Amino acid sequence: MPLKVRIGNNEVRVLRSSDLYFVQKLLKAMRNPKTKFNSREFTTKGEEYLFNYVSKNVGGVDEGRRNFLKGIVIGVAAATVVGIIPGLRVLVPPVEQASGFPKSLLLDSSGNPLKASLIPVNSPIITLYEYPLTGEPNFLLNLGDKDGNPISISPIDVVVPQTGKTYKFPGGVGPHNSIVSYSAICQHLGCTPPYIHFYPPGNVSPSQLTAPEPDTLTAQALLAAKQANVPALIHCDCHGSTYDPYKGAAVLTGPTQRPLPTILLEYDSSTDYLYATGALGVATYPEGSDGIPSQDPTKDLDTSQYGSSVGDKTQVQANTNPFS
Ligand code: FES
Repeated sequence: MPLKVRIGNNEVRVLRSSDLYFVQKLLKAMRNPKTKFNSREFTTKGEEYLFNYVSKNVGGVDEGRRNFLKGIVIGVAAATVVGIIPGLRVLVPPVEQASGFPKSLLLDSSGNPLKASLIPVNSPIITLYEYPLTGEPNFLLNLGDKDGNPISISPIDVVVPQTGKTYKFPGGVGPHNSIVSYSAICQHLGCTPPYIHFYPPGNVSPSQLTAPEPDTLTAQALLAAKQANVPALIHCDCHGSTYDPYKGAAVLTGPTQRPLPTILLEYDSSTDYLYATGALGVATYPEGSDGIPSQDPTKDLDTSQYGSSVGDKTQVQANTNPFS
């Protein structure tokens, strides 16, 4: 089935479904922490790096594939290097709620059910858990104001700048409705923690402008925080993308064109337990075995690269304080 895609701002091309399948596999490999695309090497080695990367992580590069990749790179050659890879992100997956996700109880690092009321507010420690597949990290945040009081996070429509479409972020959960969870994979080029992480209120300040990697805030990020009137941020040090943790991880500054996907949480007030139940946002798992975008990760698990379903439990780890 032919599909319309966008390269750069205007050009519209038609991809065969086999090409679509191939591009989706490539994008997944680039996002995967185990096979992460090295944009610095790409800058120095150019398309040869891309061909080798594809050959190693996605599959053989025959003449047709080579021409296809060249076509994409040439199609965006006028763009900056960081613009080249988003040029590969020509597919605009639909905004939909994914289905088929497991309901997973969040466990603490000792293996006991995590108590929502014990999650520290505004913690600078990078707190992650895998969901819905092993190898897929997500932030767990208990958001507060600048004085450290939990804030009730309201539902809101989140805009996807890439498409102009919106989706409904359901708000926070927990005893104060202040707990949220987002994918920890930057929607620009797929950087993962510690390069992308939460900046609590004390660290959204001019002193972060000169802080070493991975804690450098850009001037644009600081300005965006001021304009949005938010005391904390999620920021990616790789190229400066900034997300608003209070508003569904909406985009505050690019280069990302997509919010961080939300992980849906359910709170059981009788036990104080939290469950991950699904994901919301631009489709994270758009690849079906027939090359047609799928919303169901359990349909097309490539266990060799992407791990398997986490099942009915997943462990939360809070180990790294990037600011210390
Ligand atoms: S990967 Fe580029 S800003 Fe995060």
